[in-house]
Amino acid sequence: MTPTPRTILVTSALPYANGSIHLGHLVEYIQTDIWVRFQKLRGNHCYYVCADDAHGTPIMLRAQHEGITPETLIARVYAEHRQDFADFSINFDNYHSTHSPENQYFASLIYTRLREKGHIHSEVIRQAYDPVKEMFLPDRFIRGECPRCGAKDQYGDSCEVCGATYNPTDLKNPVSAISGATPIEKDSEHFFVKLGDFEAMLREWTSSGTLQPEMANKLNEWFETGLTPWDVSRDAPYFGFEIPDAPNKYFYVWLDAPIGYMASFKNLCERTGLDFDAFWGEDSKAELYHFIGKDIVYFHALFFPAMLSGAGFRKPSAIFAHGFLTVNGQKMSKSRGTFITARTYLQNLNPEYLRYYFAAKLSCRVDDIDLNLEDFLQRVNSDLVGKVVNIASRCAGFIHKRFNGQLASSLPDTALYQSFIEAGASITENYEARDYGKAIRDIMELADRANQYVDEHKPWVIAKQADSEVELQAVCSEALNLFRVLMGYLSPILPVMAEKVINFFNAPLPWQPEVLLAHTINPYVPLMTRVEKAQVDAMVAASQENLQATVVEKVEKTAPEKSAIEPLAAEITADDFGKIDLRIAKIVNAEHVEGAEKLLRLTLDVGEAQPRTVFSGIKAAYPEPEKLIGRLTVMVANLAPRKMRFGVSEGMVLAAGSGKSDLWLLSPDDGAQPGMRVK
Ligand code: 2FM
Ligand code: ZN
Repeated sequence: MTPTPRTILVTSALPYANGSIHLGHLVEYIQTDIWVRFQKLRGNHCYYVCADDAHGTPIMLRAQHEGITPETLIARVYAEHRQDFADFSINFDNYHSTHSPENQYFASLIYTRLREKGHIHSEVIRQAYDPVKEMFLPDRFIRGECPRCGAKDQYGDSCEVCGATYNPTDLKNPVSAISGATPIEKDSEHFFVKLGDFEAMLREWTSSGTLQPEMANKLNEWFETGLTPWDVSRDAPYFGFEIPDAPNKYFYVWLDAPIGYMASFKNLCERTGLDFDAFWGEDSKAELYHFIGKDIVYFHALFFPAMLSGAGFRKPSAIFAHGFLTVNGQKMSKSRGTFITARTYLQNLNPEYLRYYFAAKLSCRVDDIDLNLEDFLQRVNSDLVGKVVNIASRCAGFIHKRFNGQLASSLPDTALYQSFIEAGASITENYEARDYGKAIRDIMELADRANQYVDEHKPWVIAKQADSEVELQAVCSEALNLFRVLMGYLSPILPVMAEKVINFFNAPLPWQPEVLLAHTINPYVPLMTRVEKAQVDAMVAASQENLQATVVEKVEKTAPEKSAIEPLAAEITADDFGKIDLRIAKIVNAEHVEGAEKLLRLTLDVGEAQPRTVFSGIKAAYPEPEKLIGRLTVMVANLAPRKMRFGVSEGMVLAAGSGKSDLWLLSPDDGAQPGMRVK
């Protein structure tokens, strides 16, 4: 008897609309996409929605910095994100934006309902204010000396040197990270959700199997500390939605971000006729799951369910948190070339390799997962190419050449086929529980057995014997049918390869296929190629180059950004500037760097005994490097040497422009000499 299909709504966390998708993000989207594909394959009605998280101060400032409107910025990033996701086969049923009419509607509705029920209160609070920029400053936008250890240039909420946490008002010599002005203090009315009103409900909900054990423990700690009111308003200027009946007050980005899940789903309902209330109404029977990173559990396990229940909506069935990604055992790092964007990965490697590798590492726990690049290469090559593809590639040719593509009319070992189907029970359980690593272990064991079958029956030997046609066709048909079962199990992880397998067999690929007999298949085309070390190296080098190119690009800007979500750098003093040793340099050689997409190797005479070598991301602007030879330019001569894949870079040359081909090397007037100090 087939079970009644389940109705399931699934989300992944909404990425901020001011930065690129990177491999750290992809852990979650790949994890969720595999789960959704698995549910669909099992016949459940499963919908997967997501959106860009488009509001907040960093996005507003980023747009100002680029000289564009926030709307233009978020539209550009939206297109980039969608393309990245599509190229990794992340198959959303809807991808929307929090800056949408649906989201404004639900954010206002939820807030108004909370207010009507007395769950909102207002209070005048005193906050840091930038008198030059005329705006209140979030903690992260105030820098100063740590009140505990005295370290300079620390954030307003915590010290990166000694780990102290404090209030921005405790910082010594504070400055606004936006304008460099000294902040003043100013009063403003704010609106708070009284989280304490929901404590009993939240205690009950969080301890009823909705959270992983590690997360439930964390929540208990928070309950012990006490649930303080949550400040959900921000003063203008702010990029977001204005709060009803409160001119110049805006919803804090974290209020409307999770509501974005509802907005995206509503948008899907409008397009397809699905019933919104059947999923979000208080009596909904549908299952609702949020896949998130462990750092945002507070928002999803406390704030969001409190808002939903206070406003008459259902609460999530469960929250699935995952850990962070490390690369080669360490935090992703731009200088090591391990801060890899989705696009840089795609320019070098097949996305299915990463989907497979992440799946092999993922479990239902909240542990961090490591992408070890050496292991990645080994594992993809030995499992996917060496084991799985190998079964088909060793047998397909015989069926095509000797039997016109026709499979045998019965299998020689039906028990073996049946054992592959029976193994599906535990594979199913493991997928359901998000224990993909365990599922893959079982699938690879089956692949070993299928290869063993081929090794024992040696179709290449049978093919040379007289009167062996029947046996050859039977053995190859057995192996190909086993391969097809394996590919059904792998298809949520490897959708592109699964598509090729569907074409090859000229038949659909369900979760547990019926055996294919006396059926004509198509000629075999290679399903997956090996990963080469050079590809992995090129990806790491390109990630380092991106950093180089960014450095060059930022020299021209007075307020470089640290990262997408960090504030702009503060003004510097004349003393700070004096620390930079700028010199006139003569380009004595300029050449392409083999294997580097964006770099040139420059040899610079700066009046020292030895010339300097500098790798510079200016290749797009200077495709014929020899034309630079003999020219004078300006270099930063006291930059710490940096080891790169191609050698050590001993400084940096200065260029104007926005990057890529829009770049102009600076040059002094006639008469300047190599080594002259630039002041
Ligand atoms: O942490 C983040 O990247 C947020 N943009 C996630 C938002 S998830 C949801 F609440 F919208
Ligand atoms: Zn400190």
